[in-house]
Amino acid sequence: MSFQPNTSQNKEYKIRLEKSFTDQKPGTSGLRKSTRQFQQTHYLESFIESIFRTLPGVKGGILVLGGDGRFGNRKAIDVILRMAAAHGVSKVITTVDGILSTPAASNLIRSRNAIGAIILSASHNSGGVNGDFGVKVNGPNGGPASESLTDEIYSCTKNLDEYKILESQNIRIDSIGKYFISSMTVEVIDGVEDYIHLLQNIFDFDQIRSLLNNNFPIAFDALNAVTGPYAKRLFEDLLGASKGTVRNGKPLEDFGGCHPDPNLTYAKELADLLLLGEAYAFGAACDGDGDRNMILGKGCFVNPSDSLAVLAANAECVPAYSNGLLGVARSMPTSSAVDVVAKDLGINCYETPTGWKFFGNLLDSGQITLCGEESFGTGSNHVREKDGLWAVLYWLQVLANKQCSVEKLMLAHWSKYGRHYYSRHDYEAISIEKANGLYTRLESLLPSLVGESFAGRLISHADNFAYTDPVDNSITSNQGLRILLNDGSRVILRLSGTGTKGATLRVYLESYVSSKGNLNQHPQEALSDLIDNIDYVAEISKRTGMKVPTVIT
Ligand code: G1P
Ligand code: ZN
Repeated sequence: MSFQPNTSQNKEYKIRLEKSFTDQKPGTSGLRKSTRQFQQTHYLESFIESIFRTLPGVKGGILVLGGDGRFGNRKAIDVILRMAAAHGVSKVITTVDGILSTPAASNLIRSRNAIGAIILSASHNSGGVNGDFGVKVNGPNGGPASESLTDEIYSCTKNLDEYKILESQNIRIDSIGKYFISSMTVEVIDGVEDYIHLLQNIFDFDQIRSLLNNNFPIAFDALNAVTGPYAKRLFEDLLGASKGTVRNGKPLEDFGGCHPDPNLTYAKELADLLLLGEAYAFGAACDGDGDRNMILGKGCFVNPSDSLAVLAANAECVPAYSNGLLGVARSMPTSSAVDVVAKDLGINCYETPTGWKFFGNLLDSGQITLCGEESFGTGSNHVREKDGLWAVLYWLQVLANKQCSVEKLMLAHWSKYGRHYYSRHDYEAISIEKANGLYTRLESLLPSLVGESFAGRLISHADNFAYTDPVDNSITSNQGLRILLNDGSRVILRLSGTGTKGATLRVYLESYVSSKGNLNQHPQEALSDLIDNIDYVAEISKRTGMKVPTVIT
């Protein structure tokens, strides 16, 4: 362990801001802006100062710090370390080169009794000078900061007139060690080790290892983002997968020009390998900061909503969940596939607004064990974030236990529970004005739609989703327009809270077929009447000028 005594002056400065920033309202997960916006003088510092003034326990507390390695990561860590020291933080735990996945950060907060974390990531958005940057704040339970804390941080940014920072030498974080800035300790750890240890306590590694050694070739695509080092250690070093299993495994500042979003559009190379090729039995990818996952089998894509349902239905295969699940939760736009499993298991299923923060209270109070979102997010009570590699191991454990292919497992699942055909259509980078116009018009129409026919069915309910947290009774409204049909089908419209260019309209389509119905249709076909009807009712193509969505999942 190296030791670098405090050699600099560590003089504290108060930097005056000529104007405060008014555009630092955090979205679905943290403050996410273009890299260029973040490069404005004092921009990052303003948001960080507001965090340090707002997050409880900063003075004398322990803070976790790291990011997905995108352009700006290292520089931001340097600034944050110096500001943390100026605010009296007692210790910052960071990782070699500041590479830290979101779920690993969540784990560190919990295992090291930290007051929270600052995670530098714009998740699945592209990186580099022309890409995006982001700052996420997590609280002491390991999860994303609550709505009220993010609101407080935002109001602080709007009235800020100065921030505190220490002058210091460049702080080296390229190797494990302990350093000091003034009286603050900087502990640089191997970011992978603690996280792997956590997974070893959840899964039966021996069973997964024998699956991988038994003619079950897998491919994992880290998309040049944060999961590369974790996945190499896991799959290639510990679970016996062959070298080269992890593709694009070195975190790059611009993700190699790729878009680190594990879906059929942006992880096409991997999708083609599995859907068109014969070489692999299983494929998976994670996003920029490692909290999302995509699961593929040979010739088979697993819809994330189905993935959550399959994991819930097969919890007995995983040592950590073999005693049963406390309950499950899904975000509102996620399909109801997991609801059917929960009913069968006799456990509660909660429906929350979009965004992981809404699972926090349910997990903390022991009401749920598993939760997930349609946007390739799945997780459990082992941390307070969704966890990409955890989901991949969970799938491998189930497959090892059942000794079957992904495709067979899916067919068996639908034959038991029925199938929720599901798709999300994203219309990206539309003008904010047009998006708002479309949304408010549809919202005002909702009351008059109830009782009307829609795709040969009747609209039984239409509203703008509001959520009352069952733990603290807080109410979160305006969470998406829901059109519910009398056969259980649903169409939902939301405006994204994570985009950085114009507005993104998301249309979620879901139609249920019982186990006796046709389980083998293409989702876009099974949903075609819903797709046509919502286009007509919401005037999507007419108002956006877009004939087809930008991304179909
Ligand atoms: C998107 C997803 C949402 C997820 C969030 C952060 O948010 O839809 O489920 O929690 O990213 O990963 P949105 O852009 O829809 O607001
Ligand atoms: Zn992410």
